[in-house]
Amino acid sequence: MQRTTWKSLTLALMIGAAIPALTTAPALAQAVPAAKPAQPWLNAKLDADKRADLALAAMTSDEKFTVIFGYFGADMKPKYDRHPDSRDASAGYIAGVPRLGIPGQWQTDAGVGVATQGTRQGLRERTALPAGIATAATWNPELAQQGGAMIGKEARDSGFNVQLAGGINLMREPRNGRNFEYGGEDPWLAGVMVAAQIRGIQSNHIVSTIKHYALNGQETGRFFHSTNISDAAARTSDLLAFQFAIEQSDPHSVMCAYNRVNSVYACENDWLLNTVLKKDWGYKGYVMSDWGADHSSAKAANAGLDQQSAGEAFDKQPWFGAPLKADLAAGRVSQARIDDMARRVLRALFASGAVDHPLAGAPDSLPATTLAAHAKITQADAEEGIVLLKNDSGLLPLAKTAKTIAVIGGHADVGVLSGGGSSQVYPAGGRAVQGLEPATWPGPMIYYPSSPLKALAKRYPGAKVVYDDGTDPARAAKLAAESELALVFADQWTTESWDVATLDLPKNQDATIEAVAAANKKTVVVLITGGPVLMPWLDKVGAVVEAWFPGTAGGEAIARVLTGEVDATGRLPVSFPKSVADLPRPKLDGDPKKPEELFDIDYDIEGAAVGYKWYDAKKIEPLFAFGHGLSYTTFAYSNLKASAAGDKVTVSFDVKNTGARAGKDVPQVYVGPKAGGWEAPKRLAGFKKVSLAPGATQRVSLTVDPRLLATWDGKAHGWSIAAGAYDVSLGASSRVIASTVEVTLAAKALSVAGK
Ligand code: BGC
Repeated sequence: MQRTTWKSLTLALMIGAAIPALTTAPALAQAVPAAKPAQPWLNAKLDADKRADLALAAMTSDEKFTVIFGYFGADMKPKYDRHPDSRDASAGYIAGVPRLGIPGQWQTDAGVGVATQGTRQGLRERTALPAGIATAATWNPELAQQGGAMIGKEARDSGFNVQLAGGINLMREPRNGRNFEYGGEDPWLAGVMVAAQIRGIQSNHIVSTIKHYALNGQETGRFFHSTNISDAAARTSDLLAFQFAIEQSDPHSVMCAYNRVNSVYACENDWLLNTVLKKDWGYKGYVMSDWGADHSSAKAANAGLDQQSAGEAFDKQPWFGAPLKADLAAGRVSQARIDDMARRVLRALFASGAVDHPLAGAPDSLPATTLAAHAKITQADAEEGIVLLKNDSGLLPLAKTAKTIAVIGGHADVGVLSGGGSSQVYPAGGRAVQGLEPATWPGPMIYYPSSPLKALAKRYPGAKVVYDDGTDPARAAKLAAESELALVFADQWTTESWDVATLDLPKNQDATIEAVAAANKKTVVVLITGGPVLMPWLDKVGAVVEAWFPGTAGGEAIARVLTGEVDATGRLPVSFPKSVADLPRPKLDGDPKKPEELFDIDYDIEGAAVGYKWYDAKKIEPLFAFGHGLSYTTFAYSNLKASAAGDKVTVSFDVKNTGARAGKDVPQVYVGPKAGGWEAPKRLAGFKKVSLAPGATQRVSLTVDPRLLATWDGKAHGWSIAAGAYDVSLGASSRVIASTVEVTLAAKALSVAGK
């Protein structure tokens, strides 16, 4: 295998290395390991810790090194050939120890489904969920779990036992190209939603990998920048999201990030890995490096990195190969630490069930019946993630009587856009639009073949539903003027590896929307984006819907929400700003033209006041607030009660559907100390998605995690609740509060785990 440098390979990736023609995946079915008396670690009745101890004791030194060293799973000709036992065009592979019944680790991206690396057409076509941000917008953990279970099953059925899924970096920067992969801007919402997805994935006896640990908030300069933040602010924001998710889902792996944190690379950051993750949180899984994120051997190992990913392909050296062996010989890393690294990986393989449930093979295609069943799951997720941002005079649901409907832009005649980079899932049915740029990394840019136009036309059999591509505003306006209703599909491709330069819609789409809205006041804008965009035309259009990247059944989901077959039930998991001037960093740090420049990003500007907390603290009105989302029915909240017993705050209230149709609402509970003293006036402390028939009422009860009532006390190394009065508010968003009650809390010191 050819050794290559990080730099040349990054370049190869950026320019899109030539990829060979499709080869047949090798038959990789494994024999079911049978527990011989001499191999007691294969006894499934023992717990994972015991089994890991036993297996470790039977391993040679080389075998220990085997399970901590990964290979890339895709060819990058002429620089790199994938490991022959890897799955073709996959994220990675770690060899097993067949002698001991320890399987290989076959890794696939990512959070929306089973991804394919490179630009291969027709290989491994799978179901894609809507983007992570869309799933977060459902505020429905059951759906997130079902989606996770579905993509985890596709991963297992495709020959993978490690899924690199569980993206949970908080949205500090709306221009971040990867916001679509993550769970929004709030630690509790992101923690709950991403945990649900991970539980679903791991229900398939595979490992899920929460990522990117940590504070990896933008793509610009991602290999070099340092995000600088105080211990307390980090633990109350981004780290808290990881902590909640890890506690609620026990992901067997954590991926450390590319960036530096407080000047130290995340994958050799003793504070992040050893102190916070392993010591404070008691994490028992293993830490794998992101692809190209390991910069050392003994230093990284001693700081807490357990496994080097794609070591020959992306890092400057195969650090956890010969260099780490030399470190061991020279005493720069201890045998105990090498044992711990291997043991953590083994434990994950036992605890996940990957050892007891061997993979059955790695077929290129899945049965049509499976894909059809999975389409329903991704569609349900997409439907609940769609957020109705604005709806003047009941323009939506679309009038059933309409005889002429203009559908404009966004390739809505053939499909829906998806997000780019390593998480890219290739859809069944191929790409809806050919010849798009970028064709290679971080592309290809892919539209999934789920056409909103066709899904709408089906629902208006006698009507004229006419498409215009929207590239000529005047032509689009003419069609809109001749139509009863005008729907403009406006999209913005975002991707791993690039941030967007501005929050403006690209390709002159604002002009098209302006022109269409001027021609027809019944204009609906459907946004297909990976995060917030600016809306200079907002006052001129009748309705706006945020559909995110809606996945492989997105067209159908959009049609069902627009026509009111289902209620609009998504709520924003992120704030939409009015202007970049309102952000903590109006100018994005770093220069995309100087990708190797070291620079700092000051996260202490906002500290833990991420998203709505920043807007609240600074008294800035957002364009659309965190938690916002309209419904086709109306809800009323009443009888809010909150009580405190020690550090346990319980909140209950009634939600009533006061409208004429069935719907779903997301009542949200916010807390804040009357005396102030937090990073922001209030924090999200709980939520519940409720489904109600017209006239029906449901009483909801929630308990608040005590850490959401506390601040981090560095001296005591734990959480501290200040004595005093706290507001407990019930609202339909962070800015629409229906009622507030007060609780009084006594001072209390809590452990790191909030106990
Ligand atoms: C990404 C990870 C991904 C890995 C493997 C990296 O570029 O940052 O999220 O899991 O590649 O494809």
